[in-house]
Amino acid sequence: MTSNPPNVYLPDMATIVEVVQETPAIKTFRVVLNSEERMQAFNFEPGQVGQLSVLGVGESTFVINSPPTRKDYLQFSVMKVGELTSRLHRLKAGDQIGVRAPLGNAFPYESMKGKNIVFIGGGIGMAPLRTLLLFMLDNRADYGDITLLYGARSPRDMAYGYEVEEWLQRKDMRTVLTVDNGTPEWKHKVGLIPNILREINPSPENTVAVTCGPPIMIKFTVQALQELGFDDEQVVTTLEKRMKCGVGICGRCNMGTSYVCKDGPVYTLAQLKQLPNEM
Ligand SMILES: Cc1cc2nc3c(=O)[nH]c(=O)nc-3n(C[C@H](O)[C@H](O)[C@H](O)COP(=O)(O)OP(=O)(O)OC[C@H]3O[C@@H](n4cnc5c(N)ncnc54)[C@H](O)[C@@H]3O)c2cc1C
Ligand code: FES
Repeated sequence: MTSNPPNVYLPDMATIVEVVQETPAIKTFRVVLNSEERMQAFNFEPGQVGQLSVLGVGESTFVINSPPTRKDYLQFSVMKVGELTSRLHRLKAGDQIGVRAPLGNAFPYESMKGKNIVFIGGGIGMAPLRTLLLFMLDNRADYGDITLLYGARSPRDMAYGYEVEEWLQRKDMRTVLTVDNGTPEWKHKVGLIPNILREINPSPENTVAVTCGPPIMIKFTVQALQELGFDDEQVVTTLEKRMKCGVGICGRCNMGTSYVCKDGPVYTLAQLKQLPNEM
């Protein structure tokens, strides 16, 4: 684990080394901490998040979507929705940002060893799944069959296109893509994620489903998983409850007694059912 900066609110200053335009609304930022020592020592687990700040504007939470097995830079993908994310989208390689990370818990990747994994990602919800997927591909022998179902509104809204092509070619995983609205060139599925999931019909036996996406997608995906026989312990998701401090102090992110910034953002469906206001 990285030693925290002396003040938990104090960001590490970092340099953006590359910006990738993923879709019209999503940009990926590859970031290196300015302190070589802290960059070297930086350690995290798949699913953990960071607070990115633009000085004078504020900060917001984004998942670290590069896996801990690849350490040249930290990667964050940002969908433009409001003020902070619009300011982030204006930044270029060489610009400075603040990074408070790693924060929150991680996917239970140790207890997933030896199991089959079904990833179900919608839109920007693919970002946290990417971290875990790449981590598992880098430790391929530890996991059983890997299936990825990734959906977006339209082909041009699909992030990580360069990797998706590679995943489609891999023999050690199955990749299924779907869009709500196809184009004449689109060669994959057209249809909503829960319906395509039913079509793929993954066996729940010795399997964990990991899902992230817009709340409406999660709701119907969970229903489909239940119909397929997955129980609540076999479904893992990561929540985007708004955060401020990120370290369990301000009380902004709580659901009952659980603080999403410390106890989450990763929960099993069984854990979520114990909490008020979720699921
Ligand atoms: C644990 C976690 C991980 C996240 N990971 C990512 C990520 O990898 N990539 C990414 O693009 N975004 C991610 N988000 C969401 C991101 O934090 C928000 O989109 C961002 O804070 C919006 O900031 P803004 O100032 O641009 O928008 P604002 O001006 O504050 O809001 C614009 C609109 O977005 C809505 N909104 C803002 N924040 C959230 C939120 N957290 N959840 C749902 N709706 C929200 C607002 O209600 C409003 O409608 C994550 C959030 C959390 C809590
Ligand atoms: S964001 Fe402050 S307590 Fe969770």
